[in-house]
Amino acid sequence: MELVFDTQFLKGFVSADEIEAMQAKVTAAHNRLHSQDTPEKEEYKGWMTLPSEYKINPETEKIKAAAKKIQADSDVLVVIGIGGSYLGARAVIELVQSKNYNLKAKDTPQVFFAGNSISPAELLDIRDICANAKKGFSINVISKSGTTTESAIAFRIFRELLLKQCENEKEAFGRIYVTTDKEKGALKAWADEQEVQTFVVPDDVGGRYSVLTAVGLLPIAVAGVDIDALMSGALDAITDFDKPSLAENTCYQYAAARNILYSQKQKKIEILVSYEPDFTMMNEWWKQLFGESEGKEHKGIFPASAVYSTDLHSLGQYVQEGERTLFETVVMFKQPKRDIEIPPACEGGACREDDIDELNYLQGRSLHSVNNTAFLATAIAHYDGGVPNMILTLPGMDAYCVGYLIYFFEKACAISGYMLGINPFNQPGVEEYKKNMFALLEKPDKNGGSANKQRKAFLEDKLKNM
Ligand code: PA5
Repeated sequence: MELVFDTQFLKGFVSADEIEAMQAKVTAAHNRLHSQDTPEKEEYKGWMTLPSEYKINPETEKIKAAAKKIQADSDVLVVIGIGGSYLGARAVIELVQSKNYNLKAKDTPQVFFAGNSISPAELLDIRDICANAKKGFSINVISKSGTTTESAIAFRIFRELLLKQCENEKEAFGRIYVTTDKEKGALKAWADEQEVQTFVVPDDVGGRYSVLTAVGLLPIAVAGVDIDALMSGALDAITDFDKPSLAENTCYQYAAARNILYSQKQKKIEILVSYEPDFTMMNEWWKQLFGESEGKEHKGIFPASAVYSTDLHSLGQYVQEGERTLFETVVMFKQPKRDIEIPPACEGGACREDDIDELNYLQGRSLHSVNNTAFLATAIAHYDGGVPNMILTLPGMDAYCVGYLIYFFEKACAISGYMLGINPFNQPGVEEYKKNMFALLEKPDKNGGSANKQRKAFLEDKLKNM
């Protein structure tokens, strides 16, 4: 497949020679990523081979069978998970189907995502929907660690509802699908105890790289997305982005250009831009992927996002004239999912001649072509305003193209992390808020320890003296 990486709007910011000069750095990153001899803490490279193993992985048929069962016996699936255990599935469903998937007429279940915040209002809204589901609902609880607070709380609440709705425990537990570690964690222990069906998050795949495992594939399949096509797109991307040579690898060209912008041109913020609202959750998935991978040791591009033309009426002013520390990566699609021609203004059985809304010049033009013109106009304006733009163009928004794009970004992210000199596969920084929260919530310490108690006293003291 052709993913076009267009650098026209990089001119004057990053030259072809500067990109070429990155070859040694790129080759070093490529060799490190492809090396089998990996330091223990960088071993989360299992995502790289998921697409090639998909057809022979016994999980694949299990996922398809479970998706069929859920489609047959439920009109709602609640997917409980947070971060990497949530974003990828939602991103693919919304991009391939629609961000209005749940509102559309369809013969597949509604899919709601819970346990990705601690908001009671959000949780109760989804619980009400489940309580009123005619055929009943199913739960797919996803947690690699099996101990994440947000998802564990939501699971308790939805499990309670399911147990109330079903005739007996056997029926209720037959509607629960657990995606977690193959042997460790509280969730795995519970699932084994209750003989609930489980799916595996492989040891060597980190949360933000897990969309192409059962973590993403089960909910995605339930929503009627062709997971074979998704994985086939990712498989082709493996081959297309396999060569270390920058001249032959658009994925590495993208990684090299963003590294130059950050390290040599003081561009600290990357805005991922789409002109398709269905891309909104892909933006969120991408932000987690790059933010959690690169933002460490006081380094890293800050990943931001926008959907245009919507955000041109809000963030657009800043992008055009605010601090010049930004660059934009725009994802475009040649074929829209649907299109419409701008109609004549007809009222009372006749078409108006007076052009009262001043739109007659667009009559007969496709909305997609107007959207494309908005893109071109914006790229020129932002470029002239001092914001470098990189453009990625895909043929369409089908499952194949989306699988391809996912792999493109995953690989670009890993290579970018190595070029930055950090480990792209860990996330030590996310523990800090959790430790504070557990201390403040007075979580009991295990094995006679006192870490939570001590931290609580420390935090209280700190707050008093602030
Ligand atoms: O990328 C990550 O590792 C995180 O975002 C996790 O996916 C997130 O914290 C959820 O963790 P878990 O799957 O263990 O519940």
